[in-house]
Amino acid sequence: MKSILENRPLLAKQVTDVAEVAGYLWQKGWAERNGGNITVNVTDVVDAEIRKLPAISDRVAIGRPLPNLKGTYFFCKGTNKRMRDLARQPMENGSVIRILDDGSHYEIIADNPVKPTSELVSHLSMHNYLIGKGSNYKAALHTHPIDLVAMTHHAPFLKKDVLTNILWSMIPETRAFCPRGLGIIPYKMPSSTELADATIKELDEYDVVMWEKHGVCSVAENIMEAFDMVDTLSKSAQIYLTAKSMGFAPDGMSQEQMKEMQIAFNLPG
Ligand code: 13P
Ligand code: ZN
Repeated sequence: MKSILENRPLLAKQVTDVAEVAGYLWQKGWAERNGGNITVNVTDVVDAEIRKLPAISDRVAIGRPLPNLKGTYFFCKGTNKRMRDLARQPMENGSVIRILDDGSHYEIIADNPVKPTSELVSHLSMHNYLIGKGSNYKAALHTHPIDLVAMTHHAPFLKKDVLTNILWSMIPETRAFCPRGLGIIPYKMPSSTELADATIKELDEYDVVMWEKHGVCSVAENIMEAFDMVDTLSKSAQIYLTAKSMGFAPDGMSQEQMKEMQIAFNLPG
């Protein structure tokens, strides 16, 4: 069977980048079994021929109307598929879906009828929100980093911006490359519309959010950037925990030092 990626270098690049990041997630130890999911809005690299492709699945209800997504296309990790398999064989462990003109249903168009991730309602709600605010962000990543998830098992860290400030203060890179900090979303049932609602509410303020006792979710222009922010935050969490395991609480950069970074690099407040 001919792959949708054949002779489509721009679409193929999007999928290859997802596969590369899926490999990193596995290597990092963040992707046990089928843990985590990725979606990328590929509408910009979809041509007229793809638009005419017939569906290879039934129409499936998303679970809510998402009007900004009418006629858009996404590459999605399949539900129950492993990141380590997505890394090697992206089109066997993910699929391209089309959002129908009602904005409430999708159908799979390529290459295999792999059902998208169980977190699709959260992912698509984020993409719908991003389009609505005129953002150029195309990628959404959800993953299970051990260090960051562990930090959400401690109630004082769940207060607004406590974790943001601890993690920012561990190394200047985190202040620079995660400039909007880390939002916190109180525990909600995985794959629920409540989780989706709580997530998009936090995106007003943050590009990366923690799902308490579950994982992290990030949005960015592309999947590499989405990965880099989580990787940077995880680095800070590692520094924090390494200091703790050496028997002391890390001092952290001072508020003045972080302010200096903010001014020098023209970072958001
Ligand atoms: P999926 O396999 O359905 O993508 O689910 C993995 C996960 O991390 C759920 O939160
Ligand atoms: Zn998860």
